[in-house]
Amino acid sequence: MELIDGIRGRRSVRAYLPDVVERSEIEALINAAILAPSAVNQQLWGFLVIQDRALLTRYSDEIKPRVLATLAHSGLPPSFAGTLRDPGYHIFHEAPALVVIYATSEDPFASIDCCLAAENLMLAAHARGLGSCWIGLSQGFFDDEAMKPALGVPPGWHAVAPIILGHARELPAAPPRRKPEVIWRG
Ligand SMILES: Cc1cc2nc3c(=O)[nH]c(=O)nc-3n(C[C@H](O)[C@H](O)[C@H](O)COP(=O)(O)O)c2cc1C
Repeated sequence: MELIDGIRGRRSVRAYLPDVVERSEIEALINAAILAPSAVNQQLWGFLVIQDRALLTRYSDEIKPRVLATLAHSGLPPSFAGTLRDPGYHIFHEAPALVVIYATSEDPFASIDCCLAAENLMLAAHARGLGSCWIGLSQGFFDDEAMKPALGVPPGWHAVAPIILGHARELPAAPPRRKPEVIWRG
C-alpha cells in the first residue's frame, strides 16, 4: 500500500467482527507506533493493552454515566446525552482490543509524542487490514488515578490516546474535510 493511500484510506471504524486481534498483531502495531518522532528522541510513551471484551463492556458501562455527569463541560453537544443513556451504546463499539497510549512523564512534549505514536499505530493497523478508532470519551477514565492500580498503570502516567482495534464489520464513508485555512506569507 502506498503511504498516501494508507493515509487517505484510514477510517475511524465503529463496527467490528468479534474475531480476536492476536497479541503478535498488537505487538507489531506498537512497534510501528514507537517509530514516531519524539521530542529529543525521549520516547516518553507507554502502552496499556486490553483484549478482554467483557472487561471493555464493563468499562463502557462505567464510563457512560461518568461522561454524562460532566457533559456540560465536555465540549460534546447536549444531544449526546441520549446516546450515553442508550443501553445499546458501547463506548468501545464492541471492539475486541484496546490500546491506550500513555505519556510516561509530565514533560509537555510527551503527550505530543503520544499523539504521533497514535497516528502511526492507526495507520499501521490500516496497512495490516485492521480497523481502529480513537476513543476520546474514555480518556478521563483511563487517566483517573483511582483506576490506575486496577489497570496496572503507574501513577505518573497520563492517558493520551485510547485506540480500539479490530477486524472491521463495516467501513464508514470518509467524513468530508473542511478546506484548510492556510496563510501563505512571503
Ligand atoms: C482526539 C480524538 C477523540 C475521538 N474520540 C472519539 C470517540 O470517543 N468515539 C468515537 O467513536 N470516535 C472518536 N474519534 C474519531 C473521530 O470522530 C474521527 O476521527 C472523525 O470523525 C474523522 O473520521 P475519520 O477518522 O474516519 O477520518 C476521536 C478522534 C480523535 C482524534
